[in-house]
Amino acid sequence: MDEYSPRAPLPGSGADVAVVGGGVVGLGIAWEAARAGRHVVVIDPAPGTGASFAAAGMLAAVSEYHYQEEALLGLMLESATLWPAFAQPLAAEAGYLRTPTLCIAGDGADRQALADLRAVQEAHGLEVTSLTVREARAREPMLSPGIAGAFEIAADHQVDPRRLIAALLARLGSERLVRRRAESLLWDGARVAGVRLDDGSELLAQETIVANGLGARDLAGLPVQLPLRPVYGDILRLRIPQRLRPLVTATVRGLVRGRPVYLVPREDGTVVIGATQREDGSDAVSAGGVYELLRDAQALVPAVAELELYETVARARPGTPDNAPLLGRVSAPEGGDVEGLIVATGFFRHGVLLTPAAARVCREVLEGGNGGAWKPFRPDRFAGLGNGRPISHPLHGRSS
Ligand code: GLY
Repeated sequence: MDEYSPRAPLPGSGADVAVVGGGVVGLGIAWEAARAGRHVVVIDPAPGTGASFAAAGMLAAVSEYHYQEEALLGLMLESATLWPAFAQPLAAEAGYLRTPTLCIAGDGADRQALADLRAVQEAHGLEVTSLTVREARAREPMLSPGIAGAFEIAADHQVDPRRLIAALLARLGSERLVRRRAESLLWDGARVAGVRLDDGSELLAQETIVANGLGARDLAGLPVQLPLRPVYGDILRLRIPQRLRPLVTATVRGLVRGRPVYLVPREDGTVVIGATQREDGSDAVSAGGVYELLRDAQALVPAVAELELYETVARARPGTPDNAPLLGRVSAPEGGDVEGLIVATGFFRHGVLLTPAAARVCREVLEGGNGGAWKPFRPDRFAGLGNGRPISHPLHGRSS
């Protein structure tokens, strides 16, 4: 990869690349483009405060595998393999940890549901390792003696999205950040020429990348309707008292009476517990959701009851009909693709994991490629179709 040397955008003459959206995906795309030598600007009134602010940061290609999502699985696995190189220049700042994931069954029925998922994972050649309850508790002594089964996924790691955001913003530099809301695309004939901002000013760019998650629904002038819908999640952050550290060393994903829950331990002595999945239209934290997450996390790790609950957050994930992103160029009515426009949204539960892949795909498209193997994720693939609903999955079908 080319070395990144800071180059400020050219005032007046516009940028090479304008990225709308300063979440993990937008910043990752911008950073990759900057490292490829482009003049990049990121447009966001409040970077890192959307879905990225809530995200636990599980890099869970294997444990998030969803039955019949083979194409998405390919993108997730590729992105998982890109993560070490993506994180390497950010050093320890981004909180990238190659700790494993333990999948835990709360009771016999949960064990059967996880066994079914595991069989599908193994059929796809994904490495999972059975553990007896004794073995799981030898690794993680705080696990409840009442758990009914466990397996390990060594390939599913984690990053801290808030630290990642800070690291990417620092790398990009404040001169690349425009703290404004993008209101509409600017068109120059048949090509996109930049964006109009909420103060009425125009920001010209050779290429505009729409990477603002659900915010893309409010961006005027898009040549395609993006089938995005908000899938809300409640997520909790707790502090572990010294006497209980480490609470767990691996990410713990459990199924408790059919309800999924995860615990992601951080290096700083905190743990993230998530997440509900609801489509009730409410961006307020759900009391029932908090209660259920704590109840189910305690069923797996009883000492959760002794932690300090210091933050509850709700945010919406940008869902799509097939749970896969909307990524790439958009067809023009007269044939070919709309010039000057790339879409990168709809990452649903997988934005953090898929950031390096999204950055790679966008870079390839910027360099004249057509998205290669990732053409199936083009943003216009639903044109003319109704908005379907995704099917559920044992480890992430929780709804409150
Ligand atoms: N990526 C996990 C979640 O969305 O809850």
